[in-house]
Amino acid sequence: MPDDAVTMDKIVSLCKRRGLIFPASEIYGGIANTYDYGHYGVLLKRNVVDAWWQAMIGDRDDIVALDSAIIQHPRTWEASGHLAGFTDPLVDCRTCGQRFRADHLDAEHDVRCPRKPSVLPGQGPDCNLTEAREFNLMFETTIGPVQEAGSTVYLRPETAQGIFLDFKTVLGFARRKPPFGIAQVGKSFRNEITPGNFIFRTLEFEQMEMEYFVPPDDAHRWYLHWLEARMDWYERLGIRGDHLRLRAHEQDELSHYSSATSDVEYLYPIGWQELEGIANRGNFDLTQHAQYSGEKLEYFDQQSGERYVPHVIEPAAGVGRATLALLCDAYDEDELGGEARTVLKLHPRMAPVKVAVLPLVRKDGQPELAHEVRNLLRRRMQTEYDEGGSIGRRYRRQDEIGTPWCVTIDHQSLEDRTVTVRDRDTLTQDRVAIDELPDVLAGKLEAPWISPKLLVED
Ligand code: GAP
Repeated sequence: MPDDAVTMDKIVSLCKRRGLIFPASEIYGGIANTYDYGHYGVLLKRNVVDAWWQAMIGDRDDIVALDSAIIQHPRTWEASGHLAGFTDPLVDCRTCGQRFRADHLDAEHDVRCPRKPSVLPGQGPDCNLTEAREFNLMFETTIGPVQEAGSTVYLRPETAQGIFLDFKTVLGFARRKPPFGIAQVGKSFRNEITPGNFIFRTLEFEQMEMEYFVPPDDAHRWYLHWLEARMDWYERLGIRGDHLRLRAHEQDELSHYSSATSDVEYLYPIGWQELEGIANRGNFDLTQHAQYSGEKLEYFDQQSGERYVPHVIEPAAGVGRATLALLCDAYDEDELGGEARTVLKLHPRMAPVKVAVLPLVRKDGQPELAHEVRNLLRRRMQTEYDEGGSIGRRYRRQDEIGTPWCVTIDHQSLEDRTVTVRDRDTLTQDRVAIDELPDVLAGKLEAPWISPKLLVED
């Protein structure tokens, strides 16, 4: 278990208090495992997605982007194996009406009987569980106004399949040859009944998936490449290395399509859990879709005259899980001027707001100069203006959302056009000329960074 101040309850409460992430449909009492992202949550999540796109298509030439439809032809899920095999074994309790995963009825999963929380479901005096039945995790809906044969479709449970369906089309216009990848970010949907641990497991969630198509003989080499590249990416987001690990799946854990899978795991407050899966999917998907659609899904190498079905290496990450890992890794508590402070020590490039501009008082021309400074900075980085409340309270508000720098306009600023820059982590205050401020802050944003929590741990 982690040793720092963070708990899941503290993260949930901070996210709600500062409007980052909160339960959806709250005025109706909420809806299971479903959350909404508010202003700062959207900015944080967007930084995660932007960093992923940067790593996939900004930093490399061998990957192209795609945005495929959420509702695909229903045959997709027959071919992929989801219709037959994407199931959880569930039991119902005839007494309390609750539904449980049959494979989670042990102390390790800590699911409790709703009537007698001191025991596991099935062990209470009134518990009356049904036999386990397999439930498909895909959400079903229909195309057209009436439900009739052939009208059933599914909300995608993974973004990956859209990439396989478009393989041939993309190959045609992308002017790429294996090894090359197709990347996409988008919502996926799973009818999860397991309690979610905040945004760790939700009914709808964003995935960042990339299918990397390679010559069959090169698959293992590229699998190893992506294991290393993806671990490295999380560290570059500022996540502490000792809170990340790679865990190879045992043979009996592997999905039907996979010959090797490793999870990137993060040490969440609930223990080590999957952040991302990296799978060697072989040629399973292209072969299946070729068989079900009748289209040839292969690559013809004109130089060598070789024709083959590429193998696929797939790094599949969740935006919510990465966002949650960032929040957990950054959360800290300390004391400032005798008062407790909650602070998110986020990597500055991940922070929702990079700089807050704060006039010390709401008079004497300070708000006007502060607006001028805000306008100077906002084109370079996410900037916020705040003049409400004491300066101490305003610093605390910014600390709680992880803003790395607060720029304060005081009486001296009016005299010599300098401001103070307060650092969230070191709490130092440096005087900087307004004209130099954009470059100074941009330089800080580009500078190498390690979590200040690591420095304390040392
Ligand atoms: N295409 C492969 C695939 O979807 P997965 O391990 O089922 O693999 C990939 O999902 C990632 O998507 C997970 O590592 C996780 O980050 C995220 N994910 C999966 N189910 C989720 C859920 N119910 N809620 C939040 N994130 C989820």
